[in-house]
Amino acid sequence: MVSTYPTGVQQSGRQYLPQRPSTNANLSPNQELLPLTARVNHRDSLEIGGCDVTTLVQQFGSPLYILDEETLRSACRQYRDTLKQYYKGESQVLYASKAWNCLAVCAIAASEGLGIDVVSGGELFTALHAGVSPDKLYLHGNNKSHEELTLAIESGCTIVVDNWYELRTLVSLTANSPAIRIMLRLTPGIECHTHEYIRTGHLDSKFGFDPNALDEVFAFVSQQKSLNCVGVHAHIGSQIFERQPHRDLAAVMVQWLQDAAKYGLTLTELNVGGGLGIKYTESDDPPSIEEWVKAICEVIQTACADENLPLPKLLCEPGRSLIATSCITAYTIGAAKVIPEIRTYVAIDGGMSDNPRPITYQSVYRAVVANKMSAPITETVTIAGKHCESGDILIKNAQLPKTESGDILVVLGTGAYNYSMASNYNRLPRPAAVLVANGEANLILQRETYQDLIRQDCLPERLKK
Ligand SMILES: Cc1ncc(COP(=O)(O)O)c(C=O)c1O
Repeated sequence: MVSTYPTGVQQSGRQYLPQRPSTNANLSPNQELLPLTARVNHRDSLEIGGCDVTTLVQQFGSPLYILDEETLRSACRQYRDTLKQYYKGESQVLYASKAWNCLAVCAIAASEGLGIDVVSGGELFTALHAGVSPDKLYLHGNNKSHEELTLAIESGCTIVVDNWYELRTLVSLTANSPAIRIMLRLTPGIECHTHEYIRTGHLDSKFGFDPNALDEVFAFVSQQKSLNCVGVHAHIGSQIFERQPHRDLAAVMVQWLQDAAKYGLTLTELNVGGGLGIKYTESDDPPSIEEWVKAICEVIQTACADENLPLPKLLCEPGRSLIATSCITAYTIGAAKVIPEIRTYVAIDGGMSDNPRPITYQSVYRAVVANKMSAPITETVTIAGKHCESGDILIKNAQLPKTESGDILVVLGTGAYNYSMASNYNRLPRPAAVLVANGEANLILQRETYQDLIRQDCLPERLKK
């Protein structure tokens, strides 16, 4: 699925030329910079999901997360349908909801037939409240609390066991109860080229059982009547553009199924995690969802055929590539500081509290000015957040038209690890989020108020005036 038209936001010295084909069906959202429904309307303003971005900001306030339902559903369907197309066995896509866990997003993913991967009691609680069926819920985490494990056991979701401590805790928690479904997370020892903080598959990782202890783990689990171990899981990292690490992973995982069989464990599920990268800027060139899925299916089917193994149920759990491109964040431009011959800072009304990725991972983003879509690009500026922190820079050297206060700056590709990592640093209320589709905008997360900020504060009696 390679798009056959220019997808850039910067063409011919202009911000964005809306040369979209009549149908978006063949576009892989992770290879696009803008949501699939992006258009420029007669007011020269950016439109997403049939809604004018500038008008949305007037209506719902600034900053504002704007989530395009069509792009999100398209990514869900591409994972689901290509897995069905290329894999001859049973399959299930899980949405890694750590990317953005809220009721509306969980409900959309579930309505497309996806299961949900959660990493905390809070994410599990949210997914359950969104109506996700427990048999499609998988709980991850390297240090799950008793409370989280109990909630998982009571709700009937599958627990992806990360370490010996958790394994032994589960044995004691389930001593006199019916068997629960578990999977084992193993560290595959596979390196991939991505940021150190989002690499998880190498041996020196805090996640998963050491593969050198595999025999011991399988032997132990095979003796536990209360643990129904259905399969193995691994996740090697995030924002990965190469296909080889996932091919290597798939091959290693089939070997694990064979190893387990030596201990009488018949493992029928194999979860290869997520990790497919997305296009944050013009220079990013990730494979499409279809290419990624196909590569994994081919390796597993070949390895199983070679070893004469039945095909396991294949699961994958993408987060970023499923949701990142479907959301943009709209900010209002305020102050500007021109330092002659050095730099121009253009300040916005948000920053590291609504998007901590640049300061945490040095992530690079692309932006456009939503109310001046066909204005020529004439400036190179640095987009500064409003937090009391010199490092609160959202984009260095952004190429933009001439801006003035009141313009609406839109940062692209903010659906993953933005709202879910947002904080109240400097006591900024978290922005609202709206879901847009067919010209309609629905609030999915309310803007926090100052009152919300002090809701958990307690003022001891003796400090009261
Ligand atoms: C266990 C697990 N699964 C899935 C994911 C989703 O990864 P991505 O957002 O890169 O697809 C992550 C994210 O790091 C993860 O830790």
